[in-house]
Parts: sequence; structure tokens; C-alpha cells
Amino acid sequence: MSTIISPSVLSCNFANVQRDVEMINASAADWFHIDIMDGVFVPNISFGFPVMEAIHKHAKKPLDVHLMIKDPNPYIGDFKKAGAEILTVHYEACTHLHRTIQEIKASGMKAGVALNPHTPVHLLEEVIQELDLVLIMSVNPGFGGQKFIPSAVEKVKKLKQLIIEKNASVIIEVDGGVNLETGRLLVEAGADALVAGSFVFNSENPQKTIEALKQL
Ligand code: DX5
Ligand code: ZN
Repeated sequence: MSTIISPSVLSCNFANVQRDVEMINASAADWFHIDIMDGVFVPNISFGFPVMEAIHKHAKKPLDVHLMIKDPNPYIGDFKKAGAEILTVHYEACTHLHRTIQEIKASGMKAGVALNPHTPVHLLEEVIQELDLVLIMSVNPGFGGQKFIPSAVEKVKKLKQLIIEKNASVIIEVDGGVNLETGRLLVEAGADALVAGSFVFNSENPQKTIEALKQL
């Protein structure tokens, strides 16, 4: 099976979002990665519902939404309404993670949990069977264009092992500093899906770049 590619819209040109959304529609990409930041959980603020709805209006592929917000529970229904198909929350941002996962699924979305670089994979032991996706952060969340943290590769291997041990069915996605070199290491380690922002949007031919990532 080829690698799932989820270009991060955070790196697109917000003065011309529709053009960049159409580029992703026409490309080999599988999903749209949507980064929502609250300025509390992470030291940056990205965009909210009106922008996400505008993207959803033009997007012809699923929205893979990465919430970098503290205590996301009150907003789960709003993200469903704004078009999220996969909703990923941070392990570090949820006091009652199990409840949050159940609420995401009850709202009709796929549930994901993201792990910051310092958070070990084994902390997911008790919830892995409830999850559709785990997002391994290979940078500290908050900004596009950061340098890849190499220990993410080992974490992907550990997560793969945990999924096998628990007989779970979970997509392993990795986010941050992904390019052809780091992407290859991640796929070899067991990653099913790669997020790529600056590498795609800063490249001369974003569609070709997506195609090359897809071949990893
Ligand atoms: C970082 C975000 C990423 C970001 C990735 O907090 O979660 O999705 O857009 O950007 P690159 O691929 O440039 O590291
Ligand atoms: Zn992200």
C-alpha cells in the first residue's frame, strides 16, 4: 500500500487559499492536514472555523484535523460541522483522554491522538484499541518549517510494536520536518501517513513533490 500523504495547509498562501486547495485536489495527496493552534497549548495561533469551513468548501479529500488546543472537548461538535473527518487531539492537552476519544467517535469522526516529542508511546497502552490514528510529532508543535527530531523514527517502531501486540488497527501518521529523506526513514520504520508542509509548499513543483512523497 502506498503512503498516505497529508499536505499541511498551514504552509499554504492564505491570500490565495482556494488556489492551493485546488492544487491539492489535483495532486496525488490523500488528505488535507489542518493545524488548529490556540496560543495556549502551543506558542502560536493559526486559524479557526471560518477558514476551515472555506477550505472544506473547496476540498475534495478528507480533512485530517490536528488540534493543538487545550481541553478540546467543548469544540468537538463544531469541528464535525466544519468538515473534519479525522479529529486528532494531543495526549498532553486532554485530562480525560478516554472520554474525549469516545466523544469524537460518537460525533461521527475518526479519532486520533498526537504525541509530543517528549511523550512516550507506552502511555497509549490503555487506549490504543479505541483509536483510529496516532500522530507522532517529529517537531515540537506550533510552527511549520522546523527541523526533524530523529528520535521520532524509533517512536514509530515502538508504536508499530504496540499496535501488533494489542492487535489494534491504527494508522501511524508523522508530522514535522518531513522531506524525502526523513520520510523514507519513517516509512521504513512503519509510518502509514506523512504530513508535509513547508517541503511541499516551498518546492518548485508542489504536485511533483507530493507524488515523490507518495512513492516512499
Ligand atoms: C506543526 C504542525 C505541522 C506543520 C508541519 O505544529 O503540526 O503540521 O505544519 O510543517 P513542516 O512540514 O513544515 O514541518
Ligand atoms: Zn500538524
